[in-house]
Amino acid sequence: MNHEILDLFRRRYACHSFLRDRTIAQADLHVVLEAGRLSPSSFGLEHWKFLVVTGSEDKARLQAACFNQPQVGDAALVLVILAKTADLHPDTDYLKAHLAREYPGAALAPALDNYRGFYANTDVKAWSISQCHIAAANMMTAATAVGLDSCAIGGFLPDPVKDILEIDGDRYEIALILPLGYCAEAAPEKLRLPMSELVEYR
Ligand SMILES: Cc1cc2nc3c(=O)[nH]c(=O)nc-3n(C[C@H](O)[C@H](O)[C@H](O)COP(=O)(O)O)c2cc1C
Repeated sequence: MNHEILDLFRRRYACHSFLRDRTIAQADLHVVLEAGRLSPSSFGLEHWKFLVVTGSEDKARLQAACFNQPQVGDAALVLVILAKTADLHPDTDYLKAHLAREYPGAALAPALDNYRGFYANTDVKAWSISQCHIAAANMMTAATAVGLDSCAIGGFLPDPVKDILEIDGDRYEIALILPLGYCAEAAPEKLRLPMSELVEYR
């Protein structure tokens, strides 16, 4: 089946080696960041913050914190997606302002009660990171649309990454590292299970 969006999904692949001398146009980076910003999130809480790391020294240090995966140091830039944690507590101004947008007027008080129950029964860090992964997926597709390559990096040591970027660990977790640039290698064959194994109609 052919469709513009499926073509993007088929073209995106995990790039393991980036051309070191290519930089990214600000307009293309903006498309990727905007795709993240517009992503859906549970309760509309926009769990993410996006760090754009361009300095060679920081990229090299991040590579070391990512089990020395070369695509981190070689990429034109590295997006580090942070997952908010402290802001999601039911008593924060951040939480109340965001819920008030989603549930205006009299709807706010019951929504806040509902949220308190949800929060008390949720692994908040894991929940926040999972929301960031949704944004990351959209950003990877957007990168393909503007001719950029990417590689999601989940293989990292969170504490060294926080140290390198001076991240406040009480406020943020590291959700994903996303090098962006122009790939030095051709796209590999797409290896996926057939639809018949993945989908069950009931
Ligand atoms: C959350 C997540 C974490 C990943 N972490 C890594 C990683 O640390 N290193 C790596 O080379 N690829 C990583 N990948 C890329 C996957 O290996 C890759 O997407 C998968 O093998 C499918 O290949 P494709 O993306 O080329 O279609 C990650 C992908 C996701 C979604």
